[in-house]
Amino acid sequence: MITAKMSLADIVKQYPQTIPYLNNLHLDYCCGGHLPLDESFTDGSINLPSLINDLNDIASQPMPQNKEGVESIEDFEKLSVNEMLDNLEATHHVTEREMMDQIEKLLNKILIVHYPHHGAELAKIHNLFARMKADLEEHFAKEERLVFPLMRSNQHPDKETLAMVNELEGEHVDVGDMLKEMQQLTNNFTVPADACVTYTNTFKLMKDFTEDVFVHVFKENSITFPEYAEQ
Ligand SMILES: [Fe+2]
Ligand SMILES: [Fe+2]
Repeated sequence: MITAKMSLADIVKQYPQTIPYLNNLHLDYCCGGHLPLDESFTDGSINLPSLINDLNDIASQPMPQNKEGVESIEDFEKLSVNEMLDNLEATHHVTEREMMDQIEKLLNKILIVHYPHHGAELAKIHNLFARMKADLEEHFAKEERLVFPLMRSNQHPDKETLAMVNELEGEHVDVGDMLKEMQQLTNNFTVPADACVTYTNTFKLMKDFTEDVFVHVFKENSITFPEYAEQ
């Protein structure tokens, strides 16, 4: 049963089938979703009783087959911390690197082709994506080469390792902010009326990439890192 005292992160942890619904509403369950619902939406932007109602409806339905990371969260929670770290590297890190390479090429392509009519917005998107890609590549390298190996060898966390884990969480917030900026710049990945197939594919891939990063960051912030800290 979902209540106003639960955070979005708690809800996704127990009911991963709510992810597509939260994605549609652009509600952040991964980087900023740690306050209880009744403390998160105090500005009146969300009708809380109806949100909770909808979420409970979805939570009462059976899990869909591997939709937007839903199944992967259920399986992920059963792993040990070391297995989780291996799994994150073998899945999200690999997939997202490939997606970023593809998106980078596609964005450059549509920037050139559509410059006459959409140059201003595409230049902003192209620039933001390049910065986000650089940040994420450095973040993945830090996890793979520095922090995850330390976590594997220090099963009982020391202060130093925990401080590094905290640093990673800070970087997740920065990436989350960039993704939200990207959603705004692209009007939630909506293509203009005169968009070609490549334009449409680029935005679709960027949307899939964004949702993959949300699941990735959620797993680290709300499952792996807290479990490690408790060890
Ligand atoms: Fe990661
Ligand atoms: Fe990370």
